[in-house]
Amino acid sequence: MRVCVVGSGGREAALADVLARDATEVLVTPGNPLIEGSVDIPPEDIDADLYVIGPEAPLVDGLADRLRADGRLVFGPGADGAQLEGSKAYMKDLLAEAGVPTAAYGSFTEAQPARAFLDTMAPPFVIKTDGLAAGKGVVVTDDLAEARNSVDDYLSGDAFGDAGRRLVIEEGLVGPEVSVFAVCDGTRGVLLSPAQDFKRIGDGDTGPNTGGMGAYSPYGSDGDLSSDELTRTVADDFIAPTLATLRRRGIDFRGVLYAGLMLTADGPKLLEYNVRFGDPETQVVLPRMTSSLLELLGQAAAGSIEAQPTCSDDAMVNVVCASEGYPVAPRIGNHISGLEAARLLPGVTVYGAGVAIGEDGDLVSSGGRVLSVCGRGADVAEARQRAYAGVAELSWPGMTVRTDIAAAVAS
Ligand code: AMP
Ligand code: GLY
Repeated sequence: MRVCVVGSGGREAALADVLARDATEVLVTPGNPLIEGSVDIPPEDIDADLYVIGPEAPLVDGLADRLRADGRLVFGPGADGAQLEGSKAYMKDLLAEAGVPTAAYGSFTEAQPARAFLDTMAPPFVIKTDGLAAGKGVVVTDDLAEARNSVDDYLSGDAFGDAGRRLVIEEGLVGPEVSVFAVCDGTRGVLLSPAQDFKRIGDGDTGPNTGGMGAYSPYGSDGDLSSDELTRTVADDFIAPTLATLRRRGIDFRGVLYAGLMLTADGPKLLEYNVRFGDPETQVVLPRMTSSLLELLGQAAAGSIEAQPTCSDDAMVNVVCASEGYPVAPRIGNHISGLEAARLLPGVTVYGAGVAIGEDGDLVSSGGRVLSVCGRGADVAEARQRAYAGVAELSWPGMTVRTDIAAAVAS
């Protein structure tokens, strides 16, 4: 089977890597210099048996619809289903209809009612853009004055342009976060091993939110997903009612429902759905699969999952090496050294994300998140030690890394 993966980041690098176990050929568009099979050809012009769309923007933009209209087999929801990620207000409305546990919220386009609603809430205050903001459109603060200022900055368009002109204010939840991917065929979703993402830029969960600075998997699972309490709860109380509600709305969701959950004292609650695999979680979840990812995504795209995914008991830890200044103003164009040495280490995989070939033909940084350094081991401690051994080989001016990815679980 010839597969076309759409996207260019660490997630797509891992998708291509794991799909290549069973595919005859994997093409990645546009890909990047560290992903084998990268081609700079629009997906519509690539002849493939299966299309796997990585990022949210082309999904929201209807790429899956266009490919399906042309008779192609596509893994990824149409623009209708992608609204779950494209509009937080749409998502919250659907969750209420589906009865999925989530934070209380209000959605606003005017400052006055937004401020009045804020005054009824207790800290932490949570303000989000309605539209897409690359994982950065969220402020969580205990400071009411900062929350009020954020409301003004969002609505004026100063902070996030049009994405912030409608905003959502949420009840602040407290607890550990976990990411669970459900691969869906429109009717049914099967779950992959849970992972934890580290969203803030700084050690100790400080500083602004990013797309994700690292991840590990499994999270709290004994490896047997069908008997694991967390995955059963997510499958029964979150994914099943969501798919049923989407179907009632006439939406045939064939792709990933990525549940971003907070494990509160009152049980798991949904922070958000994404309509694609998560980055950096994909890099620690998919390589651990022992069943065929290609078969699973192909069946989901065709509308009938029969495979039950299985995964290894091994753990993986991913440490993201980012550019100085990320997520606000990443400084790019720096030479990357140490890649070959890192890749030679046992149990280490380095996936390229924001990388390009510079004028002199060398590898340079070209984005906020530059490399995903993944360690694999018998447990999280070993996987973590290996990931950081890989990171230690790498360098460029201003390379920014969190030193505490998975530290609490590895000790
Ligand atoms: P989101 O883009 O909605 O996943 O939000 C990004 C991050 O903001 C989440 O990973 C949480 O760390 C935090 N967050 C979002 N919503 C809430 C909430 N209701 N309560 C507490 N923290 C939240
Ligand atoms: N890891 C967060 C995301 O993919 O949105």
